[in-house]
Amino acid sequence: MRAISQDVFGSPDVLHAVTLPQPVAGVGEIVVRVQAAGVNPTDWKHRAGLPGMSEPVPVLGWDVAGVVEQVGGGVTLYEPGDEVFGMLPYPRGAGAYAEYAKAPTRSFARKPANLDHVQAAALPLAALTAYQSLVDTADVGPGQRVLIHAAAGGVGHLAVQIAKARGAYVIGTASAAKHEFLRELGADELIDYRTTDFAEALDDVDVVLDTLAGEVRTRSLDVLREGGRMISLVSGDPVADAADARKAAERGVRLQGLLVEADHAGMRAIAELAGQGRLRVHVDASFPLADAAGAHAHGETGRTTGKIVLVVE
Ligand SMILES: NC(=O)c1ccc[n+]([C@@H]2O[C@H](COP(=O)([O-])OP(=O)(O)OC[C@H]3O[C@@H](n4cnc5c(N)ncnc54)[C@H](OP(=O)(O)O)[C@@H]3O)[C@@H](O)[C@H]2O)c1
Repeated sequence: MRAISQDVFGSPDVLHAVTLPQPVAGVGEIVVRVQAAGVNPTDWKHRAGLPGMSEPVPVLGWDVAGVVEQVGGGVTLYEPGDEVFGMLPYPRGAGAYAEYAKAPTRSFARKPANLDHVQAAALPLAALTAYQSLVDTADVGPGQRVLIHAAAGGVGHLAVQIAKARGAYVIGTASAAKHEFLRELGADELIDYRTTDFAEALDDVDVVLDTLAGEVRTRSLDVLREGGRMISLVSGDPVADAADARKAAERGVRLQGLLVEADHAGMRAIAELAGQGRLRVHVDASFPLADAAGAHAHGETGRTTGKIVLVVE
């Protein structure tokens, strides 16, 4: 099969096409003929090399949409020909940038019929992150004030909708050009972070979803009500992380770091919301699999709205 690989850490141009053996489904696994693979910031962070990584991931990518090609022993949920989407186990199960990907059956859910494969591939990692943060961890409910940083990003634009579907009052930070997009997704209040200091503008927030770390995370602790909580998706350096943890304790708020997990219940919840049209994914751009480097370069601008997807012809 065709796949994208890298031999060394580095800039997008280390990504190149290779031919690899097609995976074979083991017990409890399925092999999916990949139609589209979602691209996430963690892909380019892994490509460049994360602290502690000694060698590159052979094939990057955690988000898959496609057609079941093969089922392993004991698998009852799917049959060859079923359309599925899902997140390969994170972080060790990568392999979406390929014509075929293999994973435990319950990494996937059935693809809602109203989504094409590109839209479906854009959802899993980002939507699971938002869902696991706002629903499983923070249990966001009606009337709660939820602040979502980088609300127009891959995670953010889905988090806005998930918080809204739970009845929350949703506040987002984004540059002004993206406010209309976010209003249409249900955001109640938007802050142009380039002209307005969110920490001056807000208080009494119940839940913050931090996608930025750094000074934004430190200052976001000030806008939480006592007893409120922040879920942070990004670590800073250990000194900054420890300082923010101390500040959270002093202020009587909770700060938790979350790492997304493969999650069948979460995938089914996301499939249901998307199938009902209550969770819409915005695809900023799609690229052919062969141009994974172009997709990474586009994503690394940090200015995209919604998601980037690779299309496997
Ligand atoms: N821990 C986990 O399990 C987990 C899971 C998913 C993602 N993450 C991490 O979470 C972060 C966000 O992921 P993502 O996929 O949402 O990223 P993304 O799609 O690349 O985010 C791009 C968006 O960020 C916005 N942005 C940049 N700087 C901003 C600022 N200072 N204030 C407000 N908005 C800003 C940009 O809007 P403008 O053009 O308006 O600036 C753009 O729309 C990444 O670091 C990613 O690695 C972690």
